Amino acid sequence: MKEKIEALKAKIDSAIQETETGRALYELKLKFQAELKSIMSGMRDLPKEERPVFGKVINEFKEGMEQKFEERAVVVRQKELQKKYEEEKIDVTMPGRKYEAGALHPVTLVKNQLIDIFAGMGFKVFEGPEIETDYYNFTALNTPEDHPARDMQDTFYLADKLLLRTQTSAGQIRVMETEKPPIKILSPGRVFRSDDDATHSPMFHQMEGLVVDKGITLCDLQGMLAEFAKKMFASSTKVRLRPSYFPFTEPSVEVDLSCSECGGKGCRLCKGTGWIEVLGAGMVNRRVLENCGVDPDVYTGFAFGMGIERIAMLKYGINNIKALFENDTRFLKQFRD
Ligand code: DAH
Repeated sequence: MKEKIEALKAKIDSAIQETETGRALYELKLKFQAELKSIMSGMRDLPKEERPVFGKVINEFKEGMEQKFEERAVVVRQKELQKKYEEEKIDVTMPGRKYEAGALHPVTLVKNQLIDIFAGMGFKVFEGPEIETDYYNFTALNTPEDHPARDMQDTFYLADKLLLRTQTSAGQIRVMETEKPPIKILSPGRVFRSDDDATHSPMFHQMEGLVVDKGITLCDLQGMLAEFAKKMFASSTKVRLRPSYFPFTEPSVEVDLSCSECGGKGCRLCKGTGWIEVLGAGMVNRRVLENCGVDPDVYTGFAFGMGIERIAMLKYGINNIKALFENDTRFLKQFRD
């Protein structure tokens, strides 16, 4: 029996020292307890008088071993921690990973600003389709097939009578066909024309406005545009209306704003005139109202349409429309709020 204990002691002792993990130590302890139990069960075969002496020997051995297990547990825990630290070590001096924040495109910025300004005056947003019929884009807007005004806009046709809309004005018809006055809508969107130079792009954005109600006059248009100009540009911005021609408005006007660069004195931006043309507008032509089933003897309205890129170019001093479509991040970064 004594030999058995001695053998177990020697075996366990060195095994304890070899354990490297808490788990191995725990398993070893279970094994040790099982072996000790089997030795203790042999006590039954000893003469009665020898049992107390032996019991004492076993108890001391057990306590001694438990102490060793505990001591090793401390060492092993330390070793495990050390290993973990090494594996999870981070070098705080390493350069960080850079995440670039995105920003809204200047066209989107200006579109949102326009919607904000006009929503403040009670306008609701309506978005029409980019693929339009010849009827909505031209005919209903008082531009019949042989009308010379069709040449003002070089149209991309997709099929006979089906085209990429050349103007958001097409949305005016869609709204008037489905809604009864009072109407006050704002219609932003992409438009397409076969045109391409420093100030024209085959795809660009427009913002259309339409107000129809009883007693609407050109003065309402003028007052609303004055408000828009002050909010979009400087509060000192002045508005000027010039007679013009659009088939869908009568009278039609071209709207100029006092030059934001020189304040009206005359400079390179306004070509010495002090004024910059920003949009087309007018009183909705009676024929257009009739085409949509709105009685022109009861209702009148005004409409306006502007190029969003043009407003963005004026507002941010961009001199080539291409900069807005190249998506060069060095350019776009400058519009971060
Ligand atoms: N649709 C015109 C264009 O693309 C702009 C325009 C002019 C819209 C006068 C209007 C308007 O609503 O009344 O050139």
